[in-house]
Amino acid sequence: MKRSKINKRLVLLALAGGLGAGSLAGCSNPEGNEEPNELTATKDQQQGMDIRQVPFGTTKEGKETTLYTLTNAKGMQVQITDYGATVTSILAPDRDGELGNVVLGFDSLAGYQSPEYLKSGPYFGAIVGRYGNRIAKGRFTLKGQKYRLATNNGENHLHGGTKGFDKVVWRAEPLPDQNAVRFTYVSPDGEEGYPGTLTSSVTYTLTEDNALKIDYSATTDKATPVNLTNHSYFNLAAGQASDALDHVITLNADRYTVVNASLIPTGELREVAGTVMDFTGPHAIGERVKQVEGGGYDHNYVLNGENGTMKKAATVYEPNSGRVMEVFTTEPGVQFYSGNFLDGTITGSGNKTYNRHYGFALETQHFPDSPNQPDFPSTTLEPGETYASTTIYKFSTRENDQPEQQSR
Ligand code: BGC
Repeated sequence: MKRSKINKRLVLLALAGGLGAGSLAGCSNPEGNEEPNELTATKDQQQGMDIRQVPFGTTKEGKETTLYTLTNAKGMQVQITDYGATVTSILAPDRDGELGNVVLGFDSLAGYQSPEYLKSGPYFGAIVGRYGNRIAKGRFTLKGQKYRLATNNGENHLHGGTKGFDKVVWRAEPLPDQNAVRFTYVSPDGEEGYPGTLTSSVTYTLTEDNALKIDYSATTDKATPVNLTNHSYFNLAAGQASDALDHVITLNADRYTVVNASLIPTGELREVAGTVMDFTGPHAIGERVKQVEGGGYDHNYVLNGENGTMKKAATVYEPNSGRVMEVFTTEPGVQFYSGNFLDGTITGSGNKTYNRHYGFALETQHFPDSPNQPDFPSTTLEPGETYASTTIYKFSTRENDQPEQQSR
């Protein structure tokens, strides 16, 4: 579908007259064939009135979920459900202006609750928390007190435990003036073994320059580790390729955290230079993936630049579509995961079978197992403090002959 067609449709929706969020429920999807009239609207009208809400399905516990759709004037579209505050689809244009879905996910809640999905546990598009990534043996000591977390990845704790933030229904608040939706979840004291009541908010904003901005914040009533991230898997070929191995990646990281066989950091930060881990210049994922121990990339890169300040984390280029994704973050690290555990047991949106390396994730984060690594940047949130973190995924395109941009 061409961009121009989407723009006209947006204008129509905007002019449909004072439509509040929710009132567009049931309207046709972006692939719809309605022929819009030639109408015009100001940018302000286009923004702020097009946060669609439609029912997404009922959880096994009987909770209703909703799908929120953000669209910008360029026609880019992001869909997010309150189940796990999960990004279910991102429509971004290729170099010809054709929109395509660049993330892995499902069209309804059933996909996220199916036995095969729960068995393989890929966390497509979800917010993972309280602690994204692993905590060794699910144990840590804080303020002299020992804590035991749920172990759900061999002997380790992964992505918040058995029922992490990806499997709960968040309270959603559409923010039409900002073309955003804010999701809030209150995690009770002791949930999955963590101390303190943690109130987390995640705001997804779709900007007019085709960026998805994710702002995280959290407060607690007891000291607790916090490490929130989004677990989207990208494939910028939007269904036109059987895996993501042709994607060319540049990472703004001279070092990575060395891990043991169960992917727990040893504490060593190692230089990537001269190794298959080196993405300081552009490399296709597939170029050296087979040489990586453990079946592919699944490593936390230590970003160059200061923890807490916004910096480039990654640039990804998909040569056939021309799509480019740049990642910026205030976090000190990014987990580059090349979809090694996707095994073809899951079929997602558009009837795509997600085979090994079909998608890759760039999870901005603090380093894995920080609660047990005193030399890593701290992940402890104290009462009275506010956890704040921002990550931006920005989409654009590049012509064939354009050179790779510098990553920093
Ligand atoms: C982890 C992988 C894991 C994947 C899905 C990634 O963040 O690093 O080891 O398989 O998430 O759970």
